[in-house]
Amino acid sequence: ALERTLSIIKPDAVAKNVIGQIYARFEQAGLKIVAAKMKQLSRQEAEGFYAVHSERPFFKALVDFMISGPVMISALEGENAVLAHRDLMGATNPKEAAPGTIRADFAESIDANAVHGSDAVDTAKVEIAYFFAATEVCPR
Ligand code: CMP
Repeated sequence: ALERTLSIIKPDAVAKNVIGQIYARFEQAGLKIVAAKMKQLSRQEAEGFYAVHSERPFFKALVDFMISGPVMISALEGENAVLAHRDLMGATNPKEAAPGTIRADFAESIDANAVHGSDAVDTAKVEIAYFFAATEVCPR
């Protein structure tokens, strides 16, 4: 099915100057960028985005990292976009990520793991709406 998913290129990958290399992987996999913005997240914004993790021991470190520099936020559209994007990213822990995935190639640790992607179609809807007004999403 035609789906949308939210992608965040995290501060580590933005600092490494590999936004274009990561976008190229999306495009080569048939995913279209239908919305995009670079943003320095506030603590409140990062905490709200990751609210589902608020009771986890890594929450403070996660939020501190996500506000340590600008992120590149995109909505991607394509056939089975949620799973296609997760396959491109690889496992959350880059040490467990398959060779050739974004996290294996660009990430250093489970905290600085280069990218975030929605885990399901319903969470993707919530995550896209968290960062983009309906008029900022451009189906094509
Ligand atoms: P992300 O897909 O952005 O969702 C939550 C993030 O928390 C995850 O990627 C990791 O970067 C970070 N994190 C840190 N420790 C853990 C952990 N033990 N399990 C899952 N995620 C973790």
